[in-house]
Amino acid sequence: MTGKPATEKRSGEKQRRWLQLISIIVVMLAIPIVGHRYLPEPGDPFMELYQERCAVCHGNHMEGAAQGPALVGRPLRTGDSVDKLRVAITQGIPDRGMPAWQDILDEGQISSVALLIAERRQDLAWAA
Ligand code: HEC
Repeated sequence: MTGKPATEKRSGEKQRRWLQLISIIVVMLAIPIVGHRYLPEPGDPFMELYQERCAVCHGNHMEGAAQGPALVGRPLRTGDSVDKLRVAITQGIPDRGMPAWQDILDEGQISSVALLIAERRQDLAWAA
């Protein structure tokens, strides 16, 4: 009968499968940590809002685009604080091409995006 060795073989294979699975999980966990500063996170609801509403003019990474200035790596005309950002987003600068968002986004969404920008500005201060 070959029952015992066969079981051992199978359990060794199982162990290897587990190791493979665990290393895949580790890599998947590491990617968002390493990529945090450089990639927009698709799972971040603040970032999704930014991508949906703002990226077209301000760039995917807030680096600026044809229709709008960078929001990181340079001083902001409207001020740096979360409060000032919130005012700038709420009221916009309509005569200069920045829409007012007060009728489109709710206060919570505006605060979230203001916070996101303030956070990115700190992360990317070296780019100034
Ligand atoms: C249609 C293009 C457009 C969209 C969409 C847009 N912006 Fe702007 N935004 C601009 C322009 C143009 C300016 C620069 C206005 C100026 O010259 O002072 C600006 C300026 C700003 C400023 C002030 C920058 C400074 O230097 O003080 C902030 C903050 C800002 N935008 C945030 C946002 C956020 C957040 C969103 C999304 C909710 C957004 N913008 C969507 C065009 C846009």
